[in-house]
Amino acid sequence: MNSKKVLITTALPYANGPLHLGHIFENIMADIWSRSLKMSGHEVYFFCADDTHGTPIMIEAQKRGITPEALIKQIGVEHKHDFVDFQISHTHYSSTHTEQNKQMANLFYNKMKQKGLIHKVTVDQLYCEHDKMFLPDRFVKGQCPKCHALDQNGDSCDICGATYTTRELIEPYCILCKNKPILSKTEQLVFKLNSFRDDLAKWLPEHTDKGTAQKMSSWLKSDLRDWDISRNAPYFGFPIPGEENKFFYVWLDAPMGYISCSNEFFETQNDSYLKAWSPQSDFEIYHFIGKDIIYFHTLFWPALLKTAELKTPSQVFVHGFISINGQKMSKSKGTFIAARDYLNLLPADHLRYYFASKLGTGQDDIDFHLEDFALRTNGELIGKIVNLFSRSFALIKHFNGELAILSESEKQLLKENSKYLEQTQKHYHDRNFHLAVDLIRELTDHVNKYFDQMTPWKLVKQNPAEAQKVLTLSLNKAFQIAVLLSPILPDLTERIFNLYHIVTPVTWNDFFRVFENQKLNSFEPLLGRIEQVLLNQLIKQPQNQTQASTDKSQNQINQQPSPARSSAGLKPEIDISAVDALDLRVAKVIEAKFVEGADKLISMSLDLGPLGTRHIFAGIRPAYPQPEMLIGKNIIVVANLKPRKMKFGLSEGMSLAAGPGGSDLCLVTLLDDTKANPGDSVK
Ligand code: 2FM
Ligand code: ZN
Repeated sequence: MNSKKVLITTALPYANGPLHLGHIFENIMADIWSRSLKMSGHEVYFFCADDTHGTPIMIEAQKRGITPEALIKQIGVEHKHDFVDFQISHTHYSSTHTEQNKQMANLFYNKMKQKGLIHKVTVDQLYCEHDKMFLPDRFVKGQCPKCHALDQNGDSCDICGATYTTRELIEPYCILCKNKPILSKTEQLVFKLNSFRDDLAKWLPEHTDKGTAQKMSSWLKSDLRDWDISRNAPYFGFPIPGEENKFFYVWLDAPMGYISCSNEFFETQNDSYLKAWSPQSDFEIYHFIGKDIIYFHTLFWPALLKTAELKTPSQVFVHGFISINGQKMSKSKGTFIAARDYLNLLPADHLRYYFASKLGTGQDDIDFHLEDFALRTNGELIGKIVNLFSRSFALIKHFNGELAILSESEKQLLKENSKYLEQTQKHYHDRNFHLAVDLIRELTDHVNKYFDQMTPWKLVKQNPAEAQKVLTLSLNKAFQIAVLLSPILPDLTERIFNLYHIVTPVTWNDFFRVFENQKLNSFEPLLGRIEQVLLNQLIKQPQNQTQASTDKSQNQINQQPSPARSSAGLKPEIDISAVDALDLRVAKVIEAKFVEGADKLISMSLDLGPLGTRHIFAGIRPAYPQPEMLIGKNIIVVANLKPRKMKFGLSEGMSLAAGPGGSDLCLVTLLDDTKANPGDSVK
């Protein structure tokens, strides 16, 4: 076989928050592919890094009261940890905020300048006279020019999804001082992308899928706009050499992270990035990306690489998004699943199996449907695959773990399964992982059927020699299944291989190993079922109202929001049953005090009349610097909310509060409480 050199990358996650299942999905996809190529004997390098520059990172750092450098360091550690726990085998994981990447950005920039591809343009940009700065997109808010929703970001609308420039915002205001910015002239550096129009038109169809190429070619029908690669200070990024107070736009140095990350690794091998990225290299380069960043990877990035005279990607693989129970992942809808939240509840293996069973090469969104997830993983992965090992190993104990000797015809029987190997390998190679899973399941069904028909549990007593034979054959076939499954479930299969005394890494050739006349290691349970109760915890209800508004207010304290409040953002319509499900009660505050170590919380003891005394934590501390004033007030609580275990104790309900948040928040109380008593229902 011809061994290929393959460099794989996944999109670099922003270092402004935790990884979510979307990131994990893409990396599982690339990881399965990478592992399967390695099993074919190819030399594979899989690189990724944190994308650390830009305004959202500055804002997040500001919100947390730390420097951007401290933030990206902290997040970098969390991201790496999450990836490792999802069994993602990055060859190296780095950051775009490294000296290496800075040099890379400068190298590209010099090439761009040398080739006359950079020029300066004077543009009108929003300027805050109070804060004496040009306002980056995320420092301006205003009314969406399309749907007129209030308080939308400077670049896109959360309500209707429109994207626009800050100049198009209606009634813009500076998020720092709330003043209206003025338009002021500023010089920016732009890259003449259009110089590559013809080149890109030829390049595209051969280097990405048909749909993407078609979509992009419609852009290429007319001239490509210059690309603004500079941002004014304040900006967290690399300063542009020779310019004052100007930084490279995050999307300029982000993809360079692919190269500088490779360089960091290759340097440890006494080599450099040129090993892979020089135009003469014999590497194949593959980028896995989501369909939202096609433009950057199929226009800007190849144009930049061509400018720097480096190798362009062999293929850009584009995938769809992950939805959760059919809904877009969203924090406010409670359908956002952080990678760590998943890991705190369930093993990575189940998710790897589930994603693989749904993955093909298309760009359709993939639904992470909780019920289907439990059904498939419990039914197939645990009920069929893991169970085959459990029951075979349980019975071979009767023979002290010793396998029988197989006849030539029995060995031939095992060899006949090689058709599964050939096809599965092909499906992996083509990234049709769902087809690989189908075949693995088919083979598992055959083996389970053979096991059931042969009834080795009966034979153990009636005909032990025959039982040992059946088990030996079953365990050999089960091993073949583990080999086929190993790119998807590397940890699980490694534990299985160890039972057979096989030390990983395995290759596809290991499929042909025959185990006979030897003792296997003793079996430990491999993997459990998904319990419904854990699954239910995976999708959190949107945080309780008081807490959520406090979280929001926290942003607002730091970002200083608009004077006006959004009229849009109404939650989807519900029917009366959803209202009926809520048990709202009157509660009298008996005790209210600060919670030590929690700067948002007040702890309250409440009298709910016939329902007894309850204790809750409410995120209202900034609004009530003297909590004692709450004592004696009749407030409203959600009385049938599942108690929530918090760091400081159990919260047995949720108080209702209103207002924009922070210090502007008030508990909902009764206007006239002579007519209602603690414990009374709110109608
Ligand atoms: O869209 C994103 O999440 C970006 N951080 C992806 C960057 S990919 C590469 F170009 F760096
Ligand atoms: Zn301002």
